[in-house]
Amino acid sequence: MERTLIMVKPDGVQRGLIGEIMSRFEKKGLQLAAAKFMMVSQELAETHYGEHKGKPFYDKLIVFITAGPVFAMVWEADNAIALTRAMIGKTDAVEAAPGTIRSDFAIHTNLNLVHGSDSAENAEREIALWFAPEEIVSYDRTIARWI
Ligand code: PPS
Repeated sequence: MERTLIMVKPDGVQRGLIGEIMSRFEKKGLQLAAAKFMMVSQELAETHYGEHKGKPFYDKLIVFITAGPVFAMVWEADNAIALTRAMIGKTDAVEAAPGTIRSDFAIHTNLNLVHGSDSAENAEREIALWFAPEEIVSYDRTIARWI
């Protein structure tokens, strides 16, 4: 079972797309392991996007991600990283395949709604950055005695 960090960015929150985005992952069959609605500090933003420091879009990205609340989640499934990246679509909404979140709801690259970890290494790093171990819930959905 693989875990990935998914974050609905401030534009997704502002446009009321948290439920739509969560619903897509939930219906696909991924399992929610953690979630929180929060403001992103400057420090968290700079650490999260540290590998992009110096790129032309970096400063704008930090301003954007700290501008309003985000909804951060951990989802798990076999191949969770590749699955969620495919469902999110390419960074540039023009290139995102039809049916992906960015194709269906985004127009601009700088307002591309959602972040998903892009590698196993980054998923591990990002999950540890955004969530304390006790905020991540492991459970067996196939044994539904608690419903
Ligand atoms: S790169 O250079 O190929 O590694 O960049 P990429 O993976 O495409 O993007 C890295 C993150 O920066 C965001 N991004 C942008 N934000 C705002 N404006 C522009 N022009 C822009 N270009 C890239 C992109 O969405 C990635 O963030 P996340 O949160 O992972 O989507």
